[in-house]
Amino acid sequence: MAGGDEGSLVPREVPGSYGMPFVSAIRDRLDFYYFQGQDKYFESRVDKYGSTVVRINVPPGPFMARDPRVVAVLDAKSFPVLFDVDKVEKKNLFTGTYMPSTSLTGGFRVCSYLDPSEPTHTKVKQLLFSLLASRKDAFIPAFRSHFSSLLATVESQLVLSKKSNFNTLNDATSFEFIGDAYFGVLPSASDLGTTGPTKAAKWLIFQLHPLVTLGLPMILEEPLLHTVHLPPILVSGDYKALYKYFYAAATKALDTAEGLGLKRDEACHNLLFATVFNSYGGLKVLLPGILARIAGAGEKFHQKLVAEIRAAVADAGGKVTIEALEKMELTKSAVWEALRLDPPVKFQYGRAKADMNIESHDAVFAVKKGEMLFGYQPCATRDPRVFGSTAREFVGDRFVGEEGRKLLQYVYWSNGRETESPSVDNKQCPGKNLVVLVGRLLVVELFLRYDTFTADVGVDLLGTKVEFTGVTKATSGPES
Ligand code: HEM
Repeated sequence: MAGGDEGSLVPREVPGSYGMPFVSAIRDRLDFYYFQGQDKYFESRVDKYGSTVVRINVPPGPFMARDPRVVAVLDAKSFPVLFDVDKVEKKNLFTGTYMPSTSLTGGFRVCSYLDPSEPTHTKVKQLLFSLLASRKDAFIPAFRSHFSSLLATVESQLVLSKKSNFNTLNDATSFEFIGDAYFGVLPSASDLGTTGPTKAAKWLIFQLHPLVTLGLPMILEEPLLHTVHLPPILVSGDYKALYKYFYAAATKALDTAEGLGLKRDEACHNLLFATVFNSYGGLKVLLPGILARIAGAGEKFHQKLVAEIRAAVADAGGKVTIEALEKMELTKSAVWEALRLDPPVKFQYGRAKADMNIESHDAVFAVKKGEMLFGYQPCATRDPRVFGSTAREFVGDRFVGEEGRKLLQYVYWSNGRETESPSVDNKQCPGKNLVVLVGRLLVVELFLRYDTFTADVGVDLLGTKVEFTGVTKATSGPES
């Protein structure tokens, strides 16, 4: 990299430029969405200023964000400043420089928008920890039952039309799986029927539209998606229907919430958000992402997974247990590698609580109290200074063995290091263990059932689009 202050401890000014107010922010937004795309947008600015800590504008800019100016941290060394809640405030910046209306969340600022210093943050996060702990035995059976039916559908679609769109099936299946796993109540058996995933997707779009493109012409998308907020009233009927499901299905969790000092309605809006936005929104992106990387790794890699997974399951008496999953070093590594390359939540923000210094690999930078810090996570987790010349490639066994495990501290998808744990005092994802478990279960389900498979991979609204094109049924046990 050019222009670094190698070895210097004297803080320097963060390089970069915000350009002209308003005009440059809009121009940058167009670069981000249409002319350069996300990765290039950040990489080109790192190159231009010869620094991985750089001043830039981030979307959406005018008129939704009051101030698009940030200090971007774009390498593995500087990025973790965003995890340090002693240094950064995390209030109202879950989605970045804009915040969706609280009328989309029952009038409440839900957990993701709360700073750990706010007492409600502790109560809600505690509620989620106890919900997940109380349901831990439900996750594996619920996942296996819902995703084995998904794969059966894939097989029949392949027979009929030689292709099967995983994303569409995953959207319906993940929604059912989460309702079943968290509350023991199938959304499809409630008044929601099969409308849950569509209602959820619409509600998600009302919060995330400033950050996405639908692939429509710029002239349509700019005024429609990136300039003003979509009116919450247009999704309030869908939200009410989702809320009704949660209020009835989550009775036990809501009782726990009252014991923690939360009002039932605030707790229910929080459970809805954690389930539909955090969990369902996460799985919509996570599972196609993992599937795409495993598909791309090819048949030889599949054979290794098959050997590992079937041996561990056979040792556990033909059952998929937590202990069996723990033995699957390569499977675990492959899931972490997918999370490293394609973190499902790519943007993180934090506001400097005081004047401070931020260190990149090459220099130390001075940042002022009140400045917005921003991280584009793929730049940090694909950092060649940590992951070497293969930093941008999928290396399935990267995290296997003692040396491999040392690299886990640089896996940041959960808004914290993979070697650290979420708590009420930090902003790390409380679903961390569940997410990794679900990723592993997908790989296990695939290779108990198939010797290998093929898929076409493309781009979807929030991540990766995957279409199965062929599966080779398992030729050996264990029978599951
Ligand atoms: C926070 C990622 C699944 C609940 C976060 C953050 C990230 C993240 C990056 C930090 C955001 C920030 O403050 O900047 C993901 C991904 C998931 C996932 C990629 C799935 C693939 C889940 C699940 C739950 C969950 C299953 C269920 C409980 C939350 C909550 C927060 C959070 C409540 C806010 C934490 C706090 O305020 O301390 N997640 N998450 N997430 N996540 Fe997850």
